Amino acid sequence: MPVPHRPRRPLPAALTAVLTLLALAGCYGPRHPNSIFTSFTEWNRDVGVLFDILLWLGIIVFVFVEALLLYTIWRYRARAGQGRPEQVHGNTKLEILWTVIPALVLVGIAVPTVRTIFRTQAKAKPGALQVEVIGHQWWWEFRYPEYTATGANGKPDTLVTANELYLPVGRTVNFTLRTADVLHSFWIPALAGKRDLIANHTNYLWFTPDSSGVNAWNGFCMEYCGASHANMRFRAYTVDAEDFESWARHQLAPALGTAPVAAPTTQPGGSSGTTVPVAPGTLAPVAPGAATATASAVNQAGVLPALSVQPALPAGQNTFQHFPRERLGEHNVPNTPVPAGVRLPAGITGNAQAGATAFAQGVGACIGCHRVRGVPTALGVIGPNLTHFGGRHTIAAGLYDNNVGNLAAWLKNARAMKPGVLMPTLGKGQFDPITKARLQAGLTDQQAADLAAYLLTLK
Ligand code: CUA
Repeated sequence: MPVPHRPRRPLPAALTAVLTLLALAGCYGPRHPNSIFTSFTEWNRDVGVLFDILLWLGIIVFVFVEALLLYTIWRYRARAGQGRPEQVHGNTKLEILWTVIPALVLVGIAVPTVRTIFRTQAKAKPGALQVEVIGHQWWWEFRYPEYTATGANGKPDTLVTANELYLPVGRTVNFTLRTADVLHSFWIPALAGKRDLIANHTNYLWFTPDSSGVNAWNGFCMEYCGASHANMRFRAYTVDAEDFESWARHQLAPALGTAPVAAPTTQPGGSSGTTVPVAPGTLAPVAPGAATATASAVNQAGVLPALSVQPALPAGQNTFQHFPRERLGEHNVPNTPVPAGVRLPAGITGNAQAGATAFAQGVGACIGCHRVRGVPTALGVIGPNLTHFGGRHTIAAGLYDNNVGNLAAWLKNARAMKPGVLMPTLGKGQFDPITKARLQAGLTDQQAADLAAYLLTLK
């Protein structure tokens, strides 16, 4: 006897309902720090209002249409002995109604949408903090043109950071968005965005971090821009106005890292000079303009110029230098694993002093691409400015936690850790995934650790 087929529809229906509720529950709550459903800026609030209007109108339309559909299915269902139903063509009243109602719904969406577009596209109010954002494959450059110091050559030296953005709470910030190469898109989900960085064009975005308080936010590139698009992240820190000023002044000061050991001085007359170790923080302040030596000057004379170290601020005023690490959220600290063949072997610890000397002398050629204000030989502008690198919490544009192990690995083989990165493979014996060759000469593990230890002293 055939078993009658009894479809079990309630189970899939119940499963679908539970999964939908779970998925919806996942959209909300403090455990989702990259949510756009926040009210920390007027930008996200305005967009949130639009979202709510669309959501509620959508719910009303959906419920109305589905109810009508179900009623019609039930009311006009087939019945035994029923003849051919009445045939109609056209109903002017109904047609006018179903044209007017959707038109009103669209007006209800269009008016607030256009108003929001005009409001967010307007010029930022006067007094806004200006921040220039420059997208690079694949990292972020942030410039604060209102904050300049007099450089060693007497010219204005603008505050520049990479991948870590500081914003004062309560002040509107106006971003000028540009790109150095291809299209990128600037997005801090919990604050504002996305807005594109377009070649040969300047875009703007402004918002006011208000009710968020002191906090750290994740930022992303949201326009596909090549191999490491997903690895083009950044951090934004919202801090009190005073802390922001303190941070900015500190950023403008030369690096206060471990000083290099002076290179053997070639005395006129042939006698070899002495090597003078200099303890960190004990160098006398050098007046701006005193250290004007360049890399070529070093090469020609074989003499390492004095490190121009200045106290960032008079004692007692320099309270805030960078966002406190202990206040980072779990979601702010990346845990990308370093490839096995690149990791620093256990037991190797970096010597910051040796690293400082090696860095200033051009070991690893870091100074060809990177700048460190206060180190006269480090004048490169291709890569991120490293002046206060040790105060940053991430490396490789938010991809790795900034610690000696990760940094040493990065110096050895950045290309194995971030596809397509411009930073060359530097570690001896490392396989360069771009040139497809194993490096015969390069940094030893000890040298990489020394350089990493030094760079982390650049607070
Ligand atoms: Cu830059 Cu995607």
